[in-house]
Amino acid sequence: MYLTRQEKHMLAGKEGPAVQKAMEIVTALGKIYGAADLVPVESVQVAGVSYKNLGEAGLLFLQEWAREGARVRVPTMLNPAGMDLEQWQTLGLPEEFARRQMEVLDAYARMGIEMTCTCTPYLIGKVPGLGSHLAWSESSAVAFANSILGARTNREGGPSALAAAICGRTARYGLHLTENRRATHIVRVACPVRTEVDFGVLGYEVGRRVGKGIPYFVADGAAWTAEGITAALHLRALAAAMAAAGAVALFHVQGMTPESELDDIVRPDAQELTIDSLDEGYARLSSPLERIDFVSIGCPHASLEELRDAARFLAGKRVRSLLWITTSRETRRRAEAAGWVQTIEHAGGHVVSDTCLVVAPVEALGVKTMATNSAKAAFYAPSHSGLQVRLGTLGECLDAAVRGCWPPRRRGAC
Ligand code: F3S
Repeated sequence: MYLTRQEKHMLAGKEGPAVQKAMEIVTALGKIYGAADLVPVESVQVAGVSYKNLGEAGLLFLQEWAREGARVRVPTMLNPAGMDLEQWQTLGLPEEFARRQMEVLDAYARMGIEMTCTCTPYLIGKVPGLGSHLAWSESSAVAFANSILGARTNREGGPSALAAAICGRTARYGLHLTENRRATHIVRVACPVRTEVDFGVLGYEVGRRVGKGIPYFVADGAAWTAEGITAALHLRALAAAMAAAGAVALFHVQGMTPESELDDIVRPDAQELTIDSLDEGYARLSSPLERIDFVSIGCPHASLEELRDAARFLAGKRVRSLLWITTSRETRRRAEAAGWVQTIEHAGGHVVSDTCLVVAPVEALGVKTMATNSAKAAFYAPSHSGLQVRLGTLGECLDAAVRGCWPPRRRGAC
């Protein structure tokens, strides 16, 4: 693999042990994947932030790297942590967990990383341009950046993203190369796909069928409307669920995503796939629960528009279930300025920043059943948080929060 003079110095330890360790990780990956050289990255997004996932070994690893002098050299952001950094006590999260979580964040802060703690950095102004090289690691953000924004990033692991941030480079392989961005599957959608939940379930169905493949969605069905697919909420839901159920890091939508019209964007050996029903996906992800202990909105992290819609729905109402709407701190701040956070809190809900239901220790809150509008959350919540899940739209979930039960819109209480 070709290395510049400076890169050779970094690898030889001339810029210190922390840089050397980072360079060893980046070049080892490059050798494994046959990279010709390294490519400078414009930004990095690091996953592996929650103490729930890192544990003691992960914390010690980060602290040691920080002690060795690790410093990032490109703008670097964090994925959600295990708790809201300001409201963890109000939310009832354990003190010992909070102490360990703050130590994780302290190690990252010493490396010069921005405490964004969100999986949707593109909603708070961190919007990479077409063709820019990144090293992002949150799977839904990777799929969004590659597909909707046309940026270039592999699905980095936490340590490899951090190594890229410390070196300012990553190995040029995988989705950094044009030839690897061609579609492996042509997907025809032959059933109605209308709500954000439908798009999530569609993503789940496609993800589990194509695995690491690159789907090319053919927009020829009446169901696959321009109005629907251009809604950012739907695209995020689709991207997140495909990345969770499979390992989809890039997809194209005919006539809608930036690379979809490029010559030869579909490989000649691409397989055909038709999705003619979402029923099986709904059956796998959603259980016929009646009592709803917990309602979780905001996976991926909620946009300002979702907070506005939630506030409008909840105005003058009171929730019976625990309600979390998870979002970035910056989006929460903007929603607070508009008065929407206050409306949601007045109804008894929580607008939670910096974390989400999957990476926070929600099992410590004593909840057993959950309603959500996110197929990704429904996919992970049973295994990560021991929850049974019911899927529904934003309106249905909020209605369930108000009634404390499903089905929503039934007259009276449960
Ligand atoms: Fe984001 Fe957590 Fe969902 S990181 S995509 S809200 S599982």
